[in-house]
Amino acid sequence: MDSTKLGAGSKAKLQTHVGLSSYPKQVYEHSLKTGFKFNMMVVGESGLGKATLINSLFDTKIFAENEDSNIVIPSKNVDINTMSTELLDSGVKLRLNVIESAGFGDNINNEDCWKPVVENIESRFDSYLTQENKMPKSKIVDNRVHALIYFIKPTGHSLRAIDINFMKKVHSKVNLIPVVAKADMLTQDDIAGFKQRIMADIQMHGINIFKPTWDSSDSSDMVIETKELVSKIPFAVVGSDSFMVDANGIKRRVRVYPWGIVEVENSAHNDFISFRNMLVKSNMEELKFLTDVSLYEAYRTQKLLSMGHVQDNSVFREFNPSVLYEEERRLQEIKMQKMEAEMNAVFMQKIQEKESKLKQSEEELYARHKDMKLSLEKQRNELEERKKKMETVARPITPMEKKTKKGLFNLS
Ligand code: GTP
Repeated sequence: MDSTKLGAGSKAKLQTHVGLSSYPKQVYEHSLKTGFKFNMMVVGESGLGKATLINSLFDTKIFAENEDSNIVIPSKNVDINTMSTELLDSGVKLRLNVIESAGFGDNINNEDCWKPVVENIESRFDSYLTQENKMPKSKIVDNRVHALIYFIKPTGHSLRAIDINFMKKVHSKVNLIPVVAKADMLTQDDIAGFKQRIMADIQMHGINIFKPTWDSSDSSDMVIETKELVSKIPFAVVGSDSFMVDANGIKRRVRVYPWGIVEVENSAHNDFISFRNMLVKSNMEELKFLTDVSLYEAYRTQKLLSMGHVQDNSVFREFNPSVLYEEERRLQEIKMQKMEAEMNAVFMQKIQEKESKLKQSEEELYARHKDMKLSLEKQRNELEERKKKMETVARPITPMEKKTKKGLFNLS
């Protein structure tokens, strides 16, 4: 079941900047006009702090207050609910859909608790595919899941069978972001060891999780920032709905304990800031892009292939014009992409040829100029040499000079 309801803060102007306005200028300006839309799924057992973390992330009450949130009431089924909220951060609008899976992992036998989640993700892909057949891309309502935040219980040991099983089932369909829930329940040393064991399990089971990437065109600051984010994965996070005003009058989101205070937005206490930076500030667009070009494409190809298999053995193709249309459209698209790639290759080759020709003639010109300069210098040296020689050769004494000299020195 997937029910949609508006979150408690169905339209909220944020007090804190969550990072939407930090987008690159082009994306920011575009989003001022159109707004962002982001669909995020949160999965984890009851009481792991999902609602609290999402409320903390977007600094608003997306999940309504739940008085009994500490009491876990096992439900037989996993219910999928969607909460819709419109957020405004420095003039940027974000339409946020949070899809929650109530009852996940709460039964004695949790072997199949991944099923409703996977079905929901796939049904969203299917709805997109259907719309693609009927309307232009700009008109399609994108309800695909752009990121799935999976809450890992802070046991301090390693991943449990339910975690591994779930992640293996979803990792090829969604951008999977595992987080260590309620990180304040563990010491810093416990967290470091726990993270290492989680990553080792993830690698061993071939689970694909979302990690921000960088390339040579990124600034060195950006590369350092991204590497730091990656080093903290899986983020160990803390959420809270409580606030405290410090001595400087600054309101802080905190968890208060007899032994001290845990600040949610303090990187020395937990990874909340890094997690929010990655999800909202630096990688929201990338998550959407990957959903579109990689995860959805893979699903669509597989779906069409499976349909094609049916077509070979039956008359399904003849009677399903939308499948035929989709196939044709896809083929056309592939052809166009191929043509474009070929044209680009030819264009690049022509540019390279022109560039190398220009370089060659530039080199030739330079060599000629150098030769000419050398020969002119040689000629000038020769002339100067000759001039000097001529100047040193004695001039013949004129009769007048001879006479003067004779009178003065009585020369005979
Ligand atoms: P369900 O709605 O049952 O699925 O629970 P949930 O996963 O949404 O958890 P929720 O946010 O309702 O929090 C459950 C309880 O854990 C509440 O009492 C929260 O105050 C508490 N809690 C939330 N986040 C944290 C955290 O980071 N650390 C600690 N120690 N407690 C937390």
